[in-house]
Amino acid sequence: QSTALEVAFQTRIDRGDKIEPQDWMPGGYRSTLLRQISQHAHSEYVGMLPEGFWITRAPSLHRKCVLLAKVQDEAGHAQYLYSALESLGMDRDVAYQELLAGRAKYLNIFNYPALTWADVGMIGWLTDGAAIVNQVPLSRGSYGPYARAMVRICQEESFHHRQGFDLIRVLVEGTPEQRLMAQQALDRWWWPTLMVFGPPDADSPHSQQSMKWGIKLYSNDTLRQKFIDQTVPQIHYLGLSVPDPALHLDPQTGHYQSGPIDWSEFRRVIMGEGQCNQHRLNSRRESWRQGAWVREAAACHAAKQAVPHKE
Ligand code: 3HC
Repeated sequence: QSTALEVAFQTRIDRGDKIEPQDWMPGGYRSTLLRQISQHAHSEYVGMLPEGFWITRAPSLHRKCVLLAKVQDEAGHAQYLYSALESLGMDRDVAYQELLAGRAKYLNIFNYPALTWADVGMIGWLTDGAAIVNQVPLSRGSYGPYARAMVRICQEESFHHRQGFDLIRVLVEGTPEQRLMAQQALDRWWWPTLMVFGPPDADSPHSQQSMKWGIKLYSNDTLRQKFIDQTVPQIHYLGLSVPDPALHLDPQTGHYQSGPIDWSEFRRVIMGEGQCNQHRLNSRRESWRQGAWVREAAACHAAKQAVPHKE
């Protein structure tokens, strides 16, 4: 039985109002936001690692500058999202310690290694492409601070997406070895990218309630299909092949029909047993340890500033 407050809250959501931090909200709405936004923030943060590895290995100064800018953008996205968490009363240190302790989730995709330069292109083109499909609707979501953070994030993701496509385009127009490198990277990243959208609707415990509250606007399968429909023609345009023998265009629906996704791999990866889970977390723990002196110095400086100056 819903209370009068809950009914009034749902009416605001259905009307398209934005919910702001000072507004009353049901406990479940707040905890769903805390769960999703913290996972999202950690994804942006850990998402810097596979590409960060390539900054010193980029094949030209131009590519190095572009990659550096992109990785910095991801750090900024994490900052906006940790701020959105703070607006709900969760301290960013608390959220971050959950990540370091291995209790918090982040996107499956960042537990795969970027083995070659072409993988950097695939992360931009496919992963950021998936992020745009997922996040543009989130910019119309019901919680104001999260929705507003998405606007700028999506603009930056568009640049990331295009630089990834451009990187792969140059490779496929290059030598046979470069073309092969691009195809092999596509083979590695295609399926994990389809998993980014989350489990099938029938196995997604949170989707229904999140859509009712306007935290999610579309289901996982809907967004996955949108991504497939928009990306397959791009793959064909580049002369690459999708590593899915069952993929075909269904003339009845006008949509590409994908073969079966290996959800056991998805579950393994998000439960901590992907190729890079341990490596990612250990590198974050090490960088937290190495940054201790910076935190101490900043706290010391802040304490000094707080003491009123004597004339
Ligand atoms: N990776 C890891 N875990 C996932 C996942 C994924 N791809 N998809 C789903 N899950 C987890 C959920 O977190 C949930 O676990 P929990 O109950 O322990 O919290 C469980 O699987 C069930 O999934 P649901 O579909 O019921 O969960 P949601 O309703 O939360 O939907 C989601 C999952 C679609 C990923 C949703 O949370 C979402 O839209 N999140 C925001 C998008 C996001 O995180 N984007 C990060 C982009 S990172 C980036 O752009 C950087 C890059 O560009 C370099």
